[in-house]
Amino acid sequence: MARSDITIRAEGLTKRFGNLVAVDDVSFTVRQGEVFGLLGPNGAGKSTTIRMLCGILKPTAGYAEIAGINVVKTPEQVKRTIGYMSQRFGLYDDLTVRENILFYARLYIGNWKKAAERANEVMEKLELHSYANTTAGQLSGGWRQRLALACAITHKPPVLFLDEPTAGVDPLSRRMFWDILYDMAAEGVTLFVTTHYMEEAERCDTIGFLWHGKLAALGSPEKIKKTSIPAGVYTIKGVSPAEVVNTLKGLPFVAETSQYGSEVHVITNIPEDVTHKIREQLMAMGLNQARVAPSVPSIEDVFMYISHEKANNIKQNE
Ligand SMILES: Nc1ncnc2c1ncn2[C@@H]1O[C@H](COP(=O)(O)OP(=O)(O)OP(=O)(O)O)[C@@H](O)[C@H]1O
Ligand SMILES: [Mg+2]
Repeated sequence: MARSDITIRAEGLTKRFGNLVAVDDVSFTVRQGEVFGLLGPNGAGKSTTIRMLCGILKPTAGYAEIAGINVVKTPEQVKRTIGYMSQRFGLYDDLTVRENILFYARLYIGNWKKAAERANEVMEKLELHSYANTTAGQLSGGWRQRLALACAITHKPPVLFLDEPTAGVDPLSRRMFWDILYDMAAEGVTLFVTTHYMEEAERCDTIGFLWHGKLAALGSPEKIKKTSIPAGVYTIKGVSPAEVVNTLKGLPFVAETSQYGSEVHVITNIPEDVTHKIREQLMAMGLNQARVAPSVPSIEDVFMYISHEKANNIKQNE
């Protein structure tokens, strides 16, 4: 890959807070126009990683580069290149939509006339015009999210960091928000997003999965699904999911059971096909109607598996 294709580069990025290693030796690259999704449980180190990449937080060790700028050495220089939508959005609730956008536009652009023009442009782009005179505090979750995005892009940054931009937002607004993100990526903007929504993770070009500060998986959703679970994943339908979970949970070859509506996903810890073993166990409990089939893991299965395996490894080493 040509070096110029790479917009974000992290090498051995590490952040310690006292004894806690919040981000532990993390390395990855993101190409221009790519949508990169950083996943991981609460406290995994996602926001800390973003803050280091944005030059807000100085890494304890390692290197970070945005569009050729060394963020560790010259964090100030990166400010004009990036937009940052923080996890708490950073809006002024008592200011109107237009005033919030103007505030950021003036901060970044300086020239008031140009800032006002750009504020109008951004409101147009994100369809915020009808709310221009509404205070931010009165907006619903979906519109607050749009306003936060508007504020983050007033200076047309080529790289955009979005920390849980869709948390608590309804599915339709989330979908519309992702459509906007895709349009931006198609225009060449590089997007770095954190999310707890697995269907959003599926829509990223590349996913990084953080676990206790370490990058436990990295690659396209397809690659991660194919390679992260060395054992098998099975779907069980046709019988009470609660009874299936009760029957299979705790069996030596079962790593994880999760209920999805009327079906159950089972992740094993051995590579051999255990379809018949699962069927036997269920039949022994009278669940004769169960339909058991090997299946392709979802990103959520991978998330569960990695968390389970890592937690087990820690237990074993204690
Ligand atoms: N300024 C700080 N001082 C001390 N510890 C911190 C600080 N910031 C973060 N941490 C700790 O670092 C770890 C990683 O936090 P971080 O906010 O990066 O996680 P996260 O993956 O963004 O979690 P969430 O999904 O809840 O947003 C946590 O244990 C957190 O308590
Ligand atoms: Mg966070």
